[in-house]
Amino acid sequence: MLSWDDFNAEEKPVTRQPVPPAAPQSSAATPAPQPAAAAPAARAEDAAGEPRDLRGSSDDPNDPLSRARSALKDMDVSEGLSELEGAAGRVQVDDKAMINCRADLNQLVPFKYDWAWQKYLDGCSNHWMPQEINMSADVALWKSADGLTDDERRIVKRSLGFFSTADSLVANNLVLATYRLITNPECRQYILRQAFEEAIHTHAYQYCIESLGMDEGEIFNMYRELPSVARKAAWGIKYTRELSDPTFNTGTVETDKALLRNLIAFYSVLEGIFFYCGFSQILSMGRRNKMTGVAEQFQYILRDESMHVNFGVDVINQIKLENPHLWDAEMRETTTQMILEGTQLEIEYARDSMPRGVLGMNANMMEEYLKFIANRRFAQLGLPEQFKGVTNPFPWMSEIMDLRKEKNFFETRVIEYQTGGSLSW
Ligand SMILES: [Fe+2]
Ligand SMILES: [Fe+2]
Repeated sequence: MLSWDDFNAEEKPVTRQPVPPAAPQSSAATPAPQPAAAAPAARAEDAAGEPRDLRGSSDDPNDPLSRARSALKDMDVSEGLSELEGAAGRVQVDDKAMINCRADLNQLVPFKYDWAWQKYLDGCSNHWMPQEINMSADVALWKSADGLTDDERRIVKRSLGFFSTADSLVANNLVLATYRLITNPECRQYILRQAFEEAIHTHAYQYCIESLGMDEGEIFNMYRELPSVARKAAWGIKYTRELSDPTFNTGTVETDKALLRNLIAFYSVLEGIFFYCGFSQILSMGRRNKMTGVAEQFQYILRDESMHVNFGVDVINQIKLENPHLWDAEMRETTTQMILEGTQLEIEYARDSMPRGVLGMNANMMEEYLKFIANRRFAQLGLPEQFKGVTNPFPWMSEIMDLRKEKNFFETRVIEYQTGGSLSW
């Protein structure tokens, strides 16, 4: 732990060693070497040991400090700022926009999107770390010969296999594709927070995998080697490829739509559907008092993910509001198709990870649940629900993360976390 005592402690004096002369240069075109470190070292302090930068400047071009001072003296502030995006003047609220904004992105205030700033604050209030969760009961259960059935072990492995790389895909998409294209500083502030949360999630999965002594090669390569996992990962990567090209820019209808498709793929489908089979399986395990440490990690992650999805939906809807021409019949049809494809992939994953009934659930119930979730994703984007008459077969999930009571769930957990209490089932 850091302590001010350490900070204030005097450093031990360093004994200066004689500096050998610089090696001779071989190329005639290279300027002759200057007498090196020995001379500046001698100038560094005067006889009383006073640091040289308190004694005024020297004009010696061979002195690094003198060169630094002269470079700063000649610095042109306007030249530096002109390279910043839209730094022409003070920002007014009306100058701000979600995409293709030309106002200075370094001026956080005045806020235009208070909801984004509030989500940033809420995300910070929710801070947690994987090592805070006790994994000892999980380790004992995982290593005991008759602790879990083969079907239960399959679920744990599949979940850690998918999520350990999925959160990394989400983080990469945020940092390498989305961030620079969302031209609003309060939203960027949340994206930075979200990116760190994704790093914590990847850390949590790694922590579980390491604690349980799993085969790391098998788990971390599942997204390449196991079809039901690989197909979900590949579906997401498809939508990040074009945008992560550093030469990609928004500003035309086609490129703006590409950004919108990326946001829908990652927020509504990847985080909004692909996480739900694994989450409900692991949380069901926790409710049965099995793998409670892993389940607690997943519950904290689910709390974060609920907010990621809500933020993404707000961003997408705000872009639609500011650019209604982008949300044409073609885009609505594309979005519907994307959500249906994502639902289908998650149903395939449910069948593969749950070949038989386990933990009070089976693949058919999960299919119904995923259609119920998909309907929610359609409704959030103002699209008609595609699965008529489906209901939620896992009402207990509602108690943990009810789609309509997400706020209540979130507030309860915040209080519990901040007072050091544990999550309850
Ligand atoms: Fe995550
Ligand atoms: Fe996320």
